[in-house]
Amino acid sequence: AKEPMRVLVTGAAGQIGYALVPMIARGVMLGADQPVILHMLDIPPAVEALNGVKMELVDAAFPLLKGVVATTDAVEACTGVNVAVMVGGFPRKEGMERKDVMSKNVSIYKSQASALEAHAAPNCKVLVVANPANTNALILKEFAPSIPEKNITCLTRLDHNRALGQISERLNVQVSDVKNAIIWGNHSSSQYPDVNHATVKTPNGEKPVRELVANDEWLNTEFISTVQQRGAAIIKARKFSSALSAASSACDHIRNWVLGTPEGTFVSMGVYSDGSYGVPAGLIYSFPVTCSGGDWTIVQGLPIDKFSREKMDATAQELSEEKALAYSCLN
Ligand code: NAI
Repeated sequence: AKEPMRVLVTGAAGQIGYALVPMIARGVMLGADQPVILHMLDIPPAVEALNGVKMELVDAAFPLLKGVVATTDAVEACTGVNVAVMVGGFPRKEGMERKDVMSKNVSIYKSQASALEAHAAPNCKVLVVANPANTNALILKEFAPSIPEKNITCLTRLDHNRALGQISERLNVQVSDVKNAIIWGNHSSSQYPDVNHATVKTPNGEKPVRELVANDEWLNTEFISTVQQRGAAIIKARKFSSALSAASSACDHIRNWVLGTPEGTFVSMGVYSDGSYGVPAGLIYSFPVTCSGGDWTIVQGLPIDKFSREKMDATAQELSEEKALAYSCLN
């Protein structure tokens, strides 16, 4: 039998946490043969709710779940973890300045970076979900210098999956037959959902999405804005932000990272830019990646047209500005 893996979920008493922890305990994230020990961190005002979640985990009698740590102590939460899913953060409230929200999150991610660096298992993989996800991940990276930069990522898989979902609805095909959409850049409305390399499995072989949709106007306008604005549409409909789809996509992100992507398939992950595709190095930017042996690699050599280039640059620009804002909060 495999040794259990320790998985940290911060903000575990929140909405995404509530959807995510049962998925992890069921093996959705790490595989149906991988026992897990869940570490759940939240803050003191949420401690009762956190303990309630722990009670439900016990009640659900998950065979793969070998232990639960529920705590408000970041050191205890981070100790020995192999995977860290950072969902906790400070939400933007009505009337709050962008800088104030950034400042709160910078201080959270700075201190949690230190706790992870000092106490997580070697080679711990980190996924930041909490917004501003890319910039929180960047702060975490900067303040955990001994964690390799390749181990720190942010979630854009939800946006990626939304893009696959929109294509599948439009073409009336199974979502599992659609692949290789790309989310470039920031997990914000400046992101660029790109289907220039996406394909659909058909009875006559794999076909480019552009050929099947045959309506460039829709692909270049409504498709993009629907994916960019999907988070807002969910809030409008549900009065709460996406939780089940965020949790499921976080599982997809970690599962592919740890267990690999299928041959010929790439997925989107926010990773530390090495300057690929002319994206400024030193940003956490969403790229197409393949994963193997527990590591991601940016897919190289995809042709980029002028339309895409402009959108990729605009979202990079936004991330550079967010980075500057985050740094200004440090002083
Ligand atoms: P929520 O407000 O329901 O839960 C957040 C939890 O974090 C709360 O329980 C809160 O007490 C906790 N928390 C706050 N500060 C903390 C700290 N310093 N340490 C540990 N826990 C802390 O929010 P929800 O809906 O679960 O969303 C969580 C985050 O994920 C938000 O920032 C949201 O914007 C983001 N998000 C990101 C997505 C993505 O695709 N990257 C998609 C959807 C949401």
